[in-house]
Order: sequence, then C-alpha cells, then structure tokens
Amino acid sequence: MRTLPRVPTTRKPRSIEAIRCARMKGYFAIGVEGISKPANLGALIRTGHAFGASYTFSVAPATDAVDFGSSDTSEATKNLPFYRFPSVADLLLPQGARLVGIELLDDAIALPSFRHPRQAVYVLGPERGGLSDAMVARCDHIVQIPTRFSINVSLAGALVLYDRLISLGRFAPRPVRSGGPTEELPPHFHGAAKFRAVPAEADRDESR
Ligand SMILES: C[S@@+](CC[C@H](N)C(=O)[O-])C[C@H]1O[C@@H](n2cnc3c(N)ncnc32)[C@H](O)[C@@H]1O
Repeated sequence: MRTLPRVPTTRKPRSIEAIRCARMKGYFAIGVEGISKPANLGALIRTGHAFGASYTFSVAPATDAVDFGSSDTSEATKNLPFYRFPSVADLLLPQGARLVGIELLDDAIALPSFRHPRQAVYVLGPERGGLSDAMVARCDHIVQIPTRFSINVSLAGALVLYDRLISLGRFAPRPVRSGGPTEELPPHFHGAAKFRAVPAEADRDESR
C-alpha cells in the first residue's frame, strides 16, 4: 500500500488550536429572534458552543423546544448557559457588549469589511421574515453576509463566528502559494507594563 510522504507541517493538535481560540481577547454570545424550528435553534446553540460562545439565547421564540438532532455530542445545553427573553425589550446584554444584528439588509455592513467588537452579542432572525424593526433599532451594527439570497439561519451564524475567529484569532499566516502555512505563528509578546506619569503636586486637578 502506498503511503503519502510525511511533509513538515506547522499544524498543531486540535486541542492546542482550541485553546488558542479560547484565548482570543474578549467574548461573544449568539442568539436568535422569533425562531420556529427546534432543529435550527439546536444547530445554532451547538455552533456557538463549538466556536467558544460564552452563552446563547433566544428572543420571543415561536417554539420552546430545542432539537439537537440524533446526537448532541457536545452536550451544549449542559455546558453553556442558554437564556430565553420573552421580547426584544426584555433582552439583557452584558455591560459594554455591542449588539450585532445579522441580516441581509441593503445598508448593512458586508461581513468581510466588518471589525468585530471585542465584546459582541450576535443576533439572527427567524426562518421567515427577518429581524424585527424593534431588534434592528436596538442593534449597534447590522451586518450582512454577501450572498445572492438568504441562507439557513444556523449556517449564517456559523459564517459570522468563523469570520470572528479568523479576523480576531491568531493563526499562522496564509502562504502565497496554495497549501498549508509555511511560516510558524509569530510568538505573542506581552506588552510591558505601562506606568503613567504622576502629575506634580501643583498640577493635580483636585476636582477629579
Ligand atoms: C432564512 S433567513 C430569513 C428568511 C429571509 N428573510 C427570506 O425570506 O428569504 C433567517 C436569518 O438568517 C440570517 N441570514 C440568512 N442569510 C443571511 C445573509 N446573507 N446575511 C445576513 N444574514 C443572513 C438572518 O439573520 C435571517 O433573518
């Protein structure tokens, strides 16, 4: 039997890659508004878990059920908080987090040109229709995936989280030619401690 020649690779075991993803600065959550198919909700929660979400949520769901399909190997609901908010007005966000609506709207920012907030809460719309006007009004940003027509909601969520991973995560650079990386991931340098100059006694603004 012919075996493929061993080529030097910079690929790391999956667990190390996962740890690196987890070390991405900031955090994110992902959820959906008005979802009606339990399988789509299950797929979205599972996707969020796989990409390292801090929690998942559902706003004004049309169903209370979550279906993970035949096997939920990740046991997402046991390992990740899942919140239900009855309406858009009830939606709570962590302090400092930005709400990012994912919707195919004309004036939305194209995903490849979007800078993901370090603290982000992503919300997607239901299978029919889209994000409500109330939800769009609450969002800090609206982002669209440049597709010719709408795609499945959990697939849209996966693309957004993958884009976050490759734009904020640290990976070895892509080579010029096709194939795997030829350069190692540059080592991460922790910045030196920053010390602010203490103003002279006479310059201090006592009112602060
Ligand atoms: C199946 S789509 C909604 C149906 C769609 N409005 C229609 O009637 O064709 C469900 C959700 O997936 C997300 N979605 C799907 N395709 C998208 C895209 N190209 N860009 C941004 N979001 C998308 C949005 O959050 C949307 O509300």
